Amino acid sequence: MSQTFPYAFIRGEITPIENATVPIQCKAFQYGLGCYTGMRAHWDGENLQLFRLEDHYKRLKNAAEKLNIYFPYDFPKFSETLKNFIKKNEVKEDAYLRINLYCASTQMTPRFNNPDDDLAIYLISLKDYFNSSQALNVRISDYIRIDNDMIPIEAKSTGSYINSALAKTQALSEGYDECLFLNREGHVCEASGANLFAIKNNTSTTPPLSDNILNGITRDTVITLLKNELNIETQERTILPNELTEFEELFFTGTAAKITSIASINKAPLKSSDTPTAQKLQSLLDNTFRNKLPQYSHWLTPVY
Ligand SMILES: Cc1ncc(COP(=O)(O)O)c(C=O)c1O
Repeated sequence: MSQTFPYAFIRGEITPIENATVPIQCKAFQYGLGCYTGMRAHWDGENLQLFRLEDHYKRLKNAAEKLNIYFPYDFPKFSETLKNFIKKNEVKEDAYLRINLYCASTQMTPRFNNPDDDLAIYLISLKDYFNSSQALNVRISDYIRIDNDMIPIEAKSTGSYINSALAKTQALSEGYDECLFLNREGHVCEASGANLFAIKNNTSTTPPLSDNILNGITRDTVITLLKNELNIETQERTILPNELTEFEELFFTGTAAKITSIASINKAPLKSSDTPTAQKLQSLLDNTFRNKLPQYSHWLTPVY
């Protein structure tokens, strides 16, 4: 179970989580107007290390610009706000932060460009999002991924997760663990909240951003680790659904998902259940998170 830490940040203040509420009239509640990022912090034995803080900030800032959400935080202010908030919660273990920019306006019209958008943050002690000991049975969704010209995909907008929720619910209700979206052209995209990688002949393949996927920070991390540490190049190219079970390994990547292997697609198992690349990556990622690989310490921001 994920435990929520006692304090949240909302309306510019750290406050007990039970006071971090919004009016039901607000546009975030009525229309899902907002955007967010999910970031992990890891205890390295001596300090709590935020993973790729500046990249999360940049993605959130870009999302705010794309959606016209007011976000008056430069990076130093954002970083200080987060650190103070984490310190107040006295976090000394692995944790997951939800950093949300939401439209607090209670005016009825569904529109952006509101003066009273707000930053809201809470923290949980999320260990594993998926059961990490088991590879996933995945269903290709009947729901098509939202196109970039409907909602900017890189914005990680709150409301667009209805698309994810529908696909995930369909998959779960049919006994699968996770969904996999195709886009309008029938190209493989991503899961409800994770990017996809495929391994074959010592090469890695992942869908390109142009196929309507989120520019995952773990995706970028994995491309770097594969190249530098495992000597595996990643091709960013369109993947078609009928190719999927031809790969030796398939796995999802994400801040919550970390590295999670896939066992089958639409009940068709992969040829092998071995997941050597995913296992090596998981260990590399964990060592990166915990400051055991000095070449990646620039990705870490200590809190204390
Ligand atoms: C739709 C979607 N794709 C991919 C990802 C993975 O992105 P990241 O690695 O930045 O967490 C997420 C999670 O944030 C997501 O919600």
